[in-house]
Amino acid sequence: GGASLWGGRFASGPSPELVALSRSTHFDWALAGYDLQGSRAHARALAAAGYLSPDELTRMLEGIEVIDRGIRDGVIRPLPDDEDVHFALERELVATVGAELGGKLRAGRSRNDQIATLIRLYLLDHAGRIGHLLVQLVDALAAQASAHPDAVMPGRTHLQHAQPLLLAHQLLAHAWPLVRDLERLRDWRARATESPYGAGAVAGGALGLDPVAIAHELGLGHPMPNSIDATASRDVVAEFAYIAAQVGIDLSRLAEEIIIWNTREFGFVRLHDGYSTGSSIMPQKKNPDIAELARGKSGRLIGNLAGLLATLKGLPLGYNRDLQEDKEPVFDSVQTLEVLLPAFTGMVATLEFDLERLAELAPQGFSLATDVADHLVRHGVPFREAHEISGALVRFCEAEGLELDEPSDAQYAAIDPRLTGDVRAVLTVRGSIASRAGVGGTAPERVAEQLAALAARVQEV
Ligand code: ARG
Repeated sequence: GGASLWGGRFASGPSPELVALSRSTHFDWALAGYDLQGSRAHARALAAAGYLSPDELTRMLEGIEVIDRGIRDGVIRPLPDDEDVHFALERELVATVGAELGGKLRAGRSRNDQIATLIRLYLLDHAGRIGHLLVQLVDALAAQASAHPDAVMPGRTHLQHAQPLLLAHQLLAHAWPLVRDLERLRDWRARATESPYGAGAVAGGALGLDPVAIAHELGLGHPMPNSIDATASRDVVAEFAYIAAQVGIDLSRLAEEIIIWNTREFGFVRLHDGYSTGSSIMPQKKNPDIAELARGKSGRLIGNLAGLLATLKGLPLGYNRDLQEDKEPVFDSVQTLEVLLPAFTGMVATLEFDLERLAELAPQGFSLATDVADHLVRHGVPFREAHEISGALVRFCEAEGLELDEPSDAQYAAIDPRLTGDVRAVLTVRGSIASRAGVGGTAPERVAEQLAALAARVQEV
């Protein structure tokens, strides 16, 4: 047993069962680089306060460098008796620079303020990467939208034909939530960059080490104002998990549309061979596995958030070992998005739309009935009555097997005298789309403005 971090108080080492339960190196080793970054900053603060001589600082930093290289080369690995990444790295430091100097680095810090800081450094790094991948997905959606400025499609509510839309408008509707996710990540950064370092175990530091210098060296902002909060809170981790889950949900909603659009019955899109899969038994199959995996993994991302919140609920302050359970869920959310987003973007970028089929279906299902009502309103009919008249026209056409523009003038007049042949002028898909020129509408000039506005709002995290 290697309980060297607290050996003094203990007559025996930990039982093997405790060691097995307690060990976290199989996941927190991902924080080793950040731990060493913290150690460099901490060593400098110790030297600045007079606890390490200039020569000791030099030897300490050299030792840390040797360990850093060893980790990157894969020759330094955690040992079975190491409880966590901090424990393993202190053992390595003592082995590298000797027990006397190695034993000095722990002064004025605790694994409690360390781990609270390291999880932030890890998430900040990955937020940047995930943000970059999100920008690429938004760009792919915008590129598809600008490649199809005139294409029309049936717009749906309740999955029923509702009103004709520009395809670009529908695609951009999926880009905006992702832009807000990017903005959420940037906003989260302001809280994530507060520095817990220097809070110690719970009560704060007593050695006069400069927490501002340490925070700046780590690329963080202000030290946190309360040492208990600094070591015991994980809301910043939960907030990250929420943003990851929201990204998952936003991908999943687009994924579901792609899955539906890719069915034979819809036939709106074709998937590129490189971004779809076949069947081991049915030679004709071309399956939307990327979209299905996105839909499935969104459940996993939600689970990571729910699990983390359940861990935090009712936990007293300050640090409790339960907090170790914060890492695996967010590590998993990070890994999930970092592997999912590139595949998803590739699928979106290579989608091929069947523009003829989209155009053919756009006016079906009496999707221009609202245009009849709006036409009557423009001629002074109260909307309540216009809706009634348009509804009666739909009922008549359905019974007669006609489209809305096919009844004769006499048949229109029989439905209502205010319904005249000039209504046929608004009963085209293009006319309907062009008329929806209100803010955020599907009219071509609004959608062109929207594309420009989107491009202006997309920013890396
Ligand atoms: N490994 C712990 C964690 O992940 C950090 C160490 C704090 N442990 C402790 N016994 N005070 O949260």
